[in-house]
Amino acid sequence: MNLSEILKQIDDDIHSLSPQELKNKYLAKNGLLPNLFENIKNMPVEERKDFGSKVNEIKKLIEENIENRKTVIEDMKYEEIDPSAPFDINTKVEKRPRILDLKGSSHPLMQELENILDIFQRMGFDVMESKQLDDDFHMFESLNFPKGHPARDMYDTFWTEDGFVLPAHTSTMQNRALRRYGPPPIRVVLPGRCFRNEATDASHEHTFYQIEGIYVDKGISLAHMQGTIKEYLERYLETDLEIKVQPSYFPFTEPDTEFVISCPFCEKKGCSTCGYTGWIELMGCGMIHPNVLIAGGIDPKEYSGFAWGVGLDRLTLIKRGINDIRKLRDGDLNFLKQF
Ligand code: DAH
Repeated sequence: MNLSEILKQIDDDIHSLSPQELKNKYLAKNGLLPNLFENIKNMPVEERKDFGSKVNEIKKLIEENIENRKTVIEDMKYEEIDPSAPFDINTKVEKRPRILDLKGSSHPLMQELENILDIFQRMGFDVMESKQLDDDFHMFESLNFPKGHPARDMYDTFWTEDGFVLPAHTSTMQNRALRRYGPPPIRVVLPGRCFRNEATDASHEHTFYQIEGIYVDKGISLAHMQGTIKEYLERYLETDLEIKVQPSYFPFTEPDTEFVISCPFCEKKGCSTCGYTGWIELMGCGMIHPNVLIAGGIDPKEYSGFAWGVGLDRLTLIKRGINDIRKLRDGDLNFLKQF
């Protein structure tokens, strides 16, 4: 091989060979470069100097390449971490890339979900995520909507051709939670994705998240329900709230109520968030219907409980001052980068 052939070869090898392979091929005792140096003594004297310095340059190039790549690999290998330390300690601050520059960031809905679950976990609740494909029993039957019940029409459900349903609420998880966490006391929150066949507008989406909650024990009443939900909302919205419960209708609760809070932004003076009424109707809730407890294997003569279902998207809009629910899912990076 003459010099120019070797140079071309090096160019390819630098990209395809590992540092060790490069070393073996070019620098090791029987490698190409020592061989070239060997040849120098057979060359005409006037060519030796020029040739020698070119071979030296090539040698330097290879050595540098090996050295640089080694330090990169070593950096990757030997970043020491303390697995028992909190996250921040293991992250070298000067090296931490801005998440948005590299990998994206967590979605505002997921940030809010984390906050909410964190509050409930500190209040002693378990967490179980809902399913995204479910059946008639969990969507309706176990929740006291027998076949043909007119309230089934309140939910614009999507069905698959083989008879499964996309859950239209997270109440689908009530029966599973009662069975899994029973016998009482049961305290569990059940977040998950829901779907409804509806026309979208600034406050309606076909896909959204709900967080269901259930609390069952001996002697539980509407007073416990109001206290628990109020406590959670005040922690979440970081302000004191006035609350009201007003009548509503759901087959799976008795009595059925709607939880209403004083607007956390305008102190009931009226603003765009509360539609200038001073109050926000936030979620459906009520005492779990005895038939639902029975379907979940719990004796309603011994135990009672309350449940609620709240929209995560709605809470996120309120908390973040976003005015259109569709923005949460249209993938607009300029919007998402704000969070
Ligand atoms: N599943 C109801 C809905 O999406 C909300 C709801 C109401 C959930 C009352 C509950 C409840 O757990 O007790 O319309």
